[in-house]
Amino acid sequence: MQFTYYGHSCFAVQIRGKNILFDPFITPNPLAAGIDINPIRADYIFLSHGHEDHIADCISIANRTCAIVVCSFEIHTWLNKQGITNTHPMNTGGKWVFDFGTVKCVVAQHSSGLPDGSYGGNPMGFVFTTEEGNFYYSGDTALTLDMQLIPEYTLLDFAVLCIGDNFTMGIEDAIQAARFIQCKKIIGVHYDTFGYIKIDHNKAKKAFSEQEKVLLLLEVGETQDI
Ligand code: NI
Ligand code: MN
Repeated sequence: MQFTYYGHSCFAVQIRGKNILFDPFITPNPLAAGIDINPIRADYIFLSHGHEDHIADCISIANRTCAIVVCSFEIHTWLNKQGITNTHPMNTGGKWVFDFGTVKCVVAQHSSGLPDGSYGGNPMGFVFTTEEGNFYYSGDTALTLDMQLIPEYTLLDFAVLCIGDNFTMGIEDAIQAARFIQCKKIIGVHYDTFGYIKIDHNKAKKAFSEQEKVLLLLEVGETQDI
């Protein structure tokens, strides 16, 4: 599966020819200044929650691409009011069979206010089960015991976990999360963007490898076959 990192918690995968974008926050991110959002293709945009650092570029990319935006019911209602009507509302615990595979919404322990103060519903993580591989994107979350349910649903090939601490899991909790979800290959997100979440890359990678896990930290704009 082709995986492209756009900085912070924004990334894209291609599955069965569909371009799936997550948590678009590019133009306000100084670390992603080299990314031009105009050529980014999206058939789907998944939003884990309503915070600015996860949805800043959603409306412009959705308008340009006509992507289906998959998000909580409350964010769906909010987007509809902004003129984005190609939305698919979901909520924690629910799953849906899309044309690229099945997505289950799982618990994220965080908050989810929208930029104008509107209520964004519950934050969520997503478990993707597809013919081209299975993965979990945690969204912004604390470590939760609920993560132990994920390997009951799906055997993961990789997981995209927040690792920057302060607002979300840090390194130690992300390693515990990797144990709970029984996944060896972790792609780190939600680090370095702000002063509060700067991490030491080598130390983080070493801490994972000492627990027989692999932490991948992609360059902004980098694409890898995962
Ligand atoms: Ni957040
Ligand atoms: Mn965030």
